[in-house]
Formats: sequence, C-alpha cells, structure tokens
Amino acid sequence: MPEIVHVVGARPNFVKIAPIIAALRAWPAITQRLVHTGQHYDERMAGVFFAELGLPRPDHDLHVGSGSHADQTAAILVRFDAVLARTRPDMVVVVGDVNSTLAAALAAAKRGVPVAHVEAGVRSFDRTMPEEINRVLTDQLSTLLFAPDEDAAANLRREGLPDTAISVVGNVMLDTLAAHRDRLAWPIAGLDPPLEAGGYAVLTLHRAANVDEPDRLRGLLSRLDPIAATMPVVFPVHPRTRARLAETAGALPDGLRPIEPLGYPAFLSLMAHAACVVTDSGGIQVETSALGVPCFTVRDTTEWPGTLSHGTNRLVGRDAAGLATAFRSLGSATRASRPGAADHGGASGRIAAILSGHLGERPQPPGRVHLASGRKPA
Ligand code: UD1
Repeated sequence: MPEIVHVVGARPNFVKIAPIIAALRAWPAITQRLVHTGQHYDERMAGVFFAELGLPRPDHDLHVGSGSHADQTAAILVRFDAVLARTRPDMVVVVGDVNSTLAAALAAAKRGVPVAHVEAGVRSFDRTMPEEINRVLTDQLSTLLFAPDEDAAANLRREGLPDTAISVVGNVMLDTLAAHRDRLAWPIAGLDPPLEAGGYAVLTLHRAANVDEPDRLRGLLSRLDPIAATMPVVFPVHPRTRARLAETAGALPDGLRPIEPLGYPAFLSLMAHAACVVTDSGGIQVETSALGVPCFTVRDTTEWPGTLSHGTNRLVGRDAAGLATAFRSLGSATRASRPGAADHGGASGRIAAILSGHLGERPQPPGRVHLASGRKPA
C-alpha cells in the first residue's frame, strides 16, 4: 500500500494540511501518516487546531519545541530522519514556509524520498525573511511543486524548476476557510465586553523582526493610535509577542485590547466582522482577501501580490508609516467589492488527485473527493 507522510509543525501548517488529509481519504488504498514536529506545542498554538480542524492524532511527535532557527531546524532534521529510516514512506508532503517545512523536506530528499511542497513558488523576494529562505530551498528539494497560482508557477520556472514538476492547484488555505465560513459564531464567546460587528479593528504582530525589540514593538504599536482613538483594536497576542508586550505595557495605546490567541473558527469570525485588520502575517493577507475585509500589512513586500491587485490588501511599510493614511481611506478604495475574487479554492482535491496518480492509484470517479465540510472541489 502506498504511504504518504504529512509533516506539520506550526500553527499555519495545521490550517493548510487539514483539507489535504480530508481529500486524500477518497483514496483508501493510500496510507496517510501525520508527523508533528512540535515547533508549536502549546494548547492554544497547536492542540486546539488539531481538535477544531479534525486532524488525526499525529503518528509521531518530534517534540522539538522552541529554539534558535539552527537548533529547531537541526533537531527536526535528525528526528524526522529517524522516522524516515524506520518507515520508508513513498512521499513526504510539506506545506508553507516554516522551519519544520524546510527541515522535513531536507531530511526526506537526503533519504531519496520524494517531497511534495504545497504553496510552492510563493515569493516575497526578501531574503531577510527566514520564511523566504525556507520557501526557496524547499522548492529546490521537491519533486512535486503545488503552486497556488500562476505568479507562483512563474517564480518556480524562473528559478529553473522543471515545468513537469509544477501544478497550479489553487490555495489550500481557502479550502479550510470555505469549510468554516458559513458557520462562524457571532458574537465570539469569551470576549468581554462584546464587540460590535464592523466597529473594531484586529491587530496581529508576531515576526521576530517586529516584536523581539521592545523599542521597535513600542514604535509599531504607537502607529495604531489613530485607529485606537476611533475604535477598539483587538490584539490576539502570539506567545513570542507576549513577553515583550509586558515590557511595553505603559506605552500601549488606549483602545488596544490584548487577548489570548484564538482558535481557528473564532479568529476567522473576528476577522470576518472587523472594520479592518492590521498584520505582519502572510496567511492573514490571503484570508482577509477571501473575506473581503481591508487588510493593512506592516511590511514593504508581500509574497501574495494577488491580494494587492484584488484591492483588499495594502502594504503600509515595515515601520507602518502609511497606516494612518490607509486607515483614513477606509471605506473607499480598500474595501473589496468582490469578496472571494482572489479565491482559487478546490486546491486540496486537485492535490489529492495528483498525489494519488503519482503513487499509481487509479483516479476516483467524480464526486468521491470531498473536503471535511462535504464541499466538492471545483
Ligand atoms: C513560526 C514561523 C512563522 C509563522 C509562525 C506562525 C518559522 C521560521 N517561523 O514563527 O513563519 O508565521 O510560526 O505562528 O518557522 N512559543 C510558545 N508556544 C508555542 C510556540 C512558540 O510559547 O507553542 C513561543 C516561544 O517563546 C518561541 C516563540 O514563541 O520561542 C517563537 O516560536 P517559533 O516557532 O520559533 O516561531 P514563530 O514566531 O511562532
């Protein structure tokens, strides 16, 4: 029986792998195993996502935990290699751009196990981002390159990767979003005082370059003043940011509401009902685009250029110098008139079909591939 090993490690990975595992269940002859590297390990960063997204219990947990990039990558390399030595799968599937993605791909490639990379070819062209290094190297190590769109596929070709390896499949994040968006709870449980739909902003900041230096974090938070003066700014705080936030406590803008990290459906609902989202995340640019919610991205570059042309996303600079102006224009240029226009949903069904074909399994009759929600890919 052909065997696929999926590797996940960090919060965004869980969201991306869930619809692929669900879609592959249409090929019962394929054995699926799940490896969790343990890069994220808290209940709020990992445990809750397994439950909410219907992920199976991992077959192997590598328990690597936190550390420097070198520590984390090296620990995953060694521990995942030991798993591969015992199990000899036919394919390793990695998603996104975190340290777990690159380390697992490298271990597999060195063992001669083919790697499939989901989100291949996504580029910010900014090598100061650790994720950009992870993306470029993972693509070079992969046998199957699942690009979310034509821009990403063109990037892969420019880097000399063979056309035969590249498939433009759409964006798996949007499959997970589609599986949840029709049953988002509102108001969000546990938020007291409750929020008024459309009457608040959401902030997320977690990149090391933004949050590890208290002065820099303070500077970025002060840019929120014009927004916080007019509406509450709800700030689900990543654990990396939590420690630094304590040091800046005196300088927090009035109106900023730090809260614990939320699970997947609650965070989706928080974004969906917000007036705008301010973020340094990659995935949130895509999710707000699909939801038609204005997004102000605290960066100079984006790996998701389609969100800019779609009109929901605006780059306000790494120092957020453009945030006040962008916020003032809210309601005119930024609000998307075409929510979902950037949607390339159905990716997981296409990926499952290509993977199964690669492993020599027969195509399934139409209608056999389905997502967790029961939604059929296009
Ligand atoms: C990682 C990814 C980033 C992704 C983000 C999503 C890399 C290089 N970065 O960044 O691309 O956007 O995940 O969250 O892989 N911590 C906890 N509990 C946890 C996990 C982390 O407290 O369960 C704290 C630790 O103090 C740790 C810090 O968060 O040192 C950072 O975690 P780490 O996995 O190194 O990177 P992220 O910043 O989460």
